[in-house]
Amino acid sequence: MDIKSRIKTLTELINQANIDYHTKDQPTMSDYQYDQYLKELRELEEAYPEYKEADSPTEKIGGLVLDGFEKVTHQVPMMSLSNVFNEDELRAFDDKVRKATTSYTYTTELKIDGLAVSLLYEKGLFKRAATRGNGVVGEDVTQNVKTIKSLPLRLSEAIDLEVRGEIYMPHKSFKQVNEERMSEGEALFANPRNAAAGTIRQLDSTVVAKRNLDLFIYTIVHASNHVNTQKEALEYLTKLGFKVNPHYAHVANIDDLVKQVSLYDALRKSLNYDTDGVVIKVNEFSRYETIGYTAKFPKWATAYKFQAEQVETVLKDITFQIGRTGVVTPVAELEPVFVSGTTVARATLHNEDYILDKDIRIGDTVVVHKAGEIIPEVLHVLKDKRTDQIPFSMIDTCPVCGQPLVRHEGEADYYCSNLECPGRNINSLIHFASRVAMDIDTLGEKVVEMLHELGYLNTIADIYRLHMYRDELKEIPGFGDKKVEKLLLAIEASKTQTFDRLLFGLGIKHVGAKVAKTLIKHYPSMDLLSQATIEDLLHIPEIGEMIALSIVHYFADSKKRELIEELKQLGLNMTHQVAEAVSHEFNGKTIVLTGKLNLFSRDQATEIIEKLGGKVASSVSSKTDFVVAGEDAGSKLKKANELGIPVIDELAFKEKINGYN
Ligand code: IVH
Repeated sequence: MDIKSRIKTLTELINQANIDYHTKDQPTMSDYQYDQYLKELRELEEAYPEYKEADSPTEKIGGLVLDGFEKVTHQVPMMSLSNVFNEDELRAFDDKVRKATTSYTYTTELKIDGLAVSLLYEKGLFKRAATRGNGVVGEDVTQNVKTIKSLPLRLSEAIDLEVRGEIYMPHKSFKQVNEERMSEGEALFANPRNAAAGTIRQLDSTVVAKRNLDLFIYTIVHASNHVNTQKEALEYLTKLGFKVNPHYAHVANIDDLVKQVSLYDALRKSLNYDTDGVVIKVNEFSRYETIGYTAKFPKWATAYKFQAEQVETVLKDITFQIGRTGVVTPVAELEPVFVSGTTVARATLHNEDYILDKDIRIGDTVVVHKAGEIIPEVLHVLKDKRTDQIPFSMIDTCPVCGQPLVRHEGEADYYCSNLECPGRNINSLIHFASRVAMDIDTLGEKVVEMLHELGYLNTIADIYRLHMYRDELKEIPGFGDKKVEKLLLAIEASKTQTFDRLLFGLGIKHVGAKVAKTLIKHYPSMDLLSQATIEDLLHIPEIGEMIALSIVHYFADSKKRELIEELKQLGLNMTHQVAEAVSHEFNGKTIVLTGKLNLFSRDQATEIIEKLGGKVASSVSSKTDFVVAGEDAGSKLKKANELGIPVIDELAFKEKINGYN
């Protein structure tokens, strides 16, 4: 086969595979085969650009970076729709239609919550895509729309056509995009519609290609040139190769319409994209002129808007979370309520202006919903339920470090002025949870970062309050039921972690793991240690002036005392338990570890011995009580034998500690 025909064949094969997969949802080609074909086509097109087909699927990959978007004037304006919100209003809409015309039926379609686009085809080939803009003038987003997999680049008929539809971001892509943004420290998209709109205005189409936008087509401009009814239009669009939302229906009268609308309300919850209502259109185009138009919308169509679930609850408190950039965001602490499928205990209040505009006060009864079905938000206050709540005033110092907050002119957000603020410096949290400190399995660096970014973790104490947000945490992209349960279990278990690990975890300057171990022997509880003076501490041989000063300094800080008190209330172990050790044979013994241990790490063995009241020494002397010799033990074993000091192997050691580790 010659090159030109091979390119043509590949183009057709891949386009068909795209339609089968993305438009019809019925894959006919393996991913592997698809990738092979696409690779071959790209190579051939590169070598023989003159043979590239007008509808080449390689166009979908993106690549072009624009300076801005050209303006496009819509030949037929993109109108919007009137709204109805309940059955009465829907019947009133029908009454008006009935007064204007006779013998008509309706089609119903889901109202997809995305952004409208207009697509132009010439001789069946895709030419241009434009946003709605103000309805008359929009923007040319051809390069970006080209990356949408279900967009047909060539129609099944070589006709000139303008169609309109809705670009949307499926929930799965939305989660992925936000997950990525979170790990990059970027602001999250509030809902899939914003994400789709933000994406379509990207200047780099490669970014768009990665975001997996999708498209449903619902209208043909000048449709009556092709078909007679909206139902036929949808069928014709499907035949041409467009992705049409399958959940449309044709109903005979207003009673059936009312029934159909309530069916949609149940259906929408099972879909993997957002819908905000049902679009109702008179089916017969021949009636359109007689029913007529207002300046803004057709009178032969309306949108029945779904009730977004809204619930009442009490605003118990307004707290503040600090982000990695230092921005301080007010958060509503709510009496937990069930809304759109989960229990919500916190909701964003955005910023000071949002609270003041809506006059939200602690103690108010508020109305809460989920923006884009995902992010809890306080909508407004039920003022008639207000008693003696005092107006909100923004804090002026950082809730974490106590330093002043600043708000720059023209900005809505407050920032902590302290660059070293522990609220933004999450390293202390990462250290606390780490394997060497509190050893909270699954609360690794990435998870800490994410929970911090989302406002769940500001201080160490917040770790132990995470369980209050169990249901919300399960909603976080990539988290889920199992992970959250595992995390919360590990956090709970860490409450009984040894006192020295807690001390080390607190991150007191100069108090490393070893110093912490020494300290707890002399001060076996947090209470005792927190009262120690510099002179007291200097009595401990291993503690020098620098360490002593740092410890006293730490406990003199009221913020630190507060934290310790909180941790105590939350049930963390703050004492060094020696009782257990007293009854064990290791108690008071000096033990030397040598050779390679297989069952324990050196650290683990040391920890166990110390827990049982023993001491681990690094060299063998007459003071050594016995030696634990692992594989390939050398000089220390030899010395022990010379001095007649008892030697046990690793298995014997394991026997002795059985039940104690
Ligand atoms: S028809 C003149 N059908 O809703 C009527 N619109 O407020 C044009 N939309 O701008 C719209 N799904 O962005 C129609 N199945 C559907 C729709 C739909 C979503 C959006 C579209 C339009 C807005 C109307």
